[in-house]
Amino acid sequence: NVDEDLRLKYRYLDLRRPNMKNQLIQRSNIIKTIRNYLDGYGFTDVETPVLTKSTPEGARDYLVPSRHHTNKFYALPQSPQMFKQLLMVSGLDRYYQIVKCFRDEDLRPNRQPEFTQLDLEASFIDEDFIYALFDPLITDTFKVAGKTVTGPFPHITYEEAMEKYGNDHPDLRFDMTMIDVTELLKDVEYRIFNSIVKSGGIIKGITVKGKANDMSKNMLQEELAKKVVPKYGGKGMSWMKVENGGLVSNIAQFFKENELKTLQTAMQAEDGDVILLIADTNKDLVNDVLGRLRLYVGEKQGFIDKNKISACWVTEFPMFELKDNRLSSMHHPFTQPGDGFMKAKTNDDYLKVTSKAYDLVINGEEIGGGSIRIHDPKMQQKVFDVLGLTKDDIKEKFGFFVEALSYGTPPHGGIALGIDRLVGMITDASSIREVIAFPKNRVALCPLTQAPSNVDEKQLKELNLELVQEEVEA
Ligand code: AMO
Repeated sequence: NVDEDLRLKYRYLDLRRPNMKNQLIQRSNIIKTIRNYLDGYGFTDVETPVLTKSTPEGARDYLVPSRHHTNKFYALPQSPQMFKQLLMVSGLDRYYQIVKCFRDEDLRPNRQPEFTQLDLEASFIDEDFIYALFDPLITDTFKVAGKTVTGPFPHITYEEAMEKYGNDHPDLRFDMTMIDVTELLKDVEYRIFNSIVKSGGIIKGITVKGKANDMSKNMLQEELAKKVVPKYGGKGMSWMKVENGGLVSNIAQFFKENELKTLQTAMQAEDGDVILLIADTNKDLVNDVLGRLRLYVGEKQGFIDKNKISACWVTEFPMFELKDNRLSSMHHPFTQPGDGFMKAKTNDDYLKVTSKAYDLVINGEEIGGGSIRIHDPKMQQKVFDVLGLTKDDIKEKFGFFVEALSYGTPPHGGIALGIDRLVGMITDASSIREVIAFPKNRVALCPLTQAPSNVDEKQLKELNLELVQEEVEA
């Protein structure tokens, strides 16, 4: 029960504990397994630069000022993405690397500012090559800790994941899938539902099997509807229980007999089950809130078997998403779009285009992501154009890359797995910090070395840098 910052300050003592030491040994064993496996398939381990130029992965860059080139900066790689693709242009065909990546992004429990990837790329391949290569590899890595998970892992499209689970990293260890009941309840008299449906909103529900006795009215109203759902951004939650073959609830009186019947059938609810319903005019909000509620209830009511390992591939992601009203890449700009992209003209057209990207999800956590890449410079140029990059921007940031593609690029694709997340999952670590020898804390500080820290005036001068602002607390 020692405060984590204290443990991190004295990490060398913390690592004396057998469990901590064991996790590092397991990490080393897992990496050894990965290397042996990939060596067996003819992959070559190649190092790529750490002092480099920005590669877009959706985070901010860590910058390193250059003393020799005044006022110029290197960026630490968010991933080796462009370099691994350049290796394919070189004809290397099968590359991998266990590599540090650096991302200055918003802090979350399963993120570190510097983390390790298994990064991989191959030429003349399609998505099936990646699945066939990684399913057995994942089996082997879990075997290191004596755990069994066998492929082939199921595939689920992004759209289906969002509809049924409310997110793109579905936890398939338990069912309780989300069901859309909007159509069934379109004429319902219950005022809140009625006005939401009339304004184009949706109603979706989950059925909690056999928990009517464990989920009291007080828990449903006071805990779930008034605390949990509002915390997730929802405005409210309705519930119904199945008793003696029919639906019972504080709002049942506002529903017609046949509406209750069809609702119960659609929700596949039987005696002893509880139905939880979320309605809103914003469809994305319904999916998000109900998806989180599903996880909350699944956890609290014991539906998640902690010994189960459920892996899946999420496929057919949209190529673009709207961020601040502008199109941005959902994966990254080197991902190959599906059919229809070259003919698309409007934002609406672009938002309908899917991509050849895939994520590996295990127990509801994104462990890896990758895609088949663009190998045609014209298509790459168009993606940059759609993203709103000016000709000068493209030339300055990616000129060398687009030029490389024009020298004859084989079709290629790849993936990167988050090693810290994978090892954490295999060893049942409570956070990824437990499987990193010297991690940063929750606010990206190192309590052991006190990094980041002030630097000498002399160093700043050499770098032609000047501090202009008082320090702001993180
Ligand atoms: P992506 O950005 O999806 O893809 O990253 C791949 C995997 O790296 C892990 N990861 C992280 N782990 C810990 N802390 C972080 N801050 C962090 N960020 C990412 C996740 C994630 O699934 N270049 C592409 C891969 C490719 O297209 O081949 C890339 O980096 O487990």
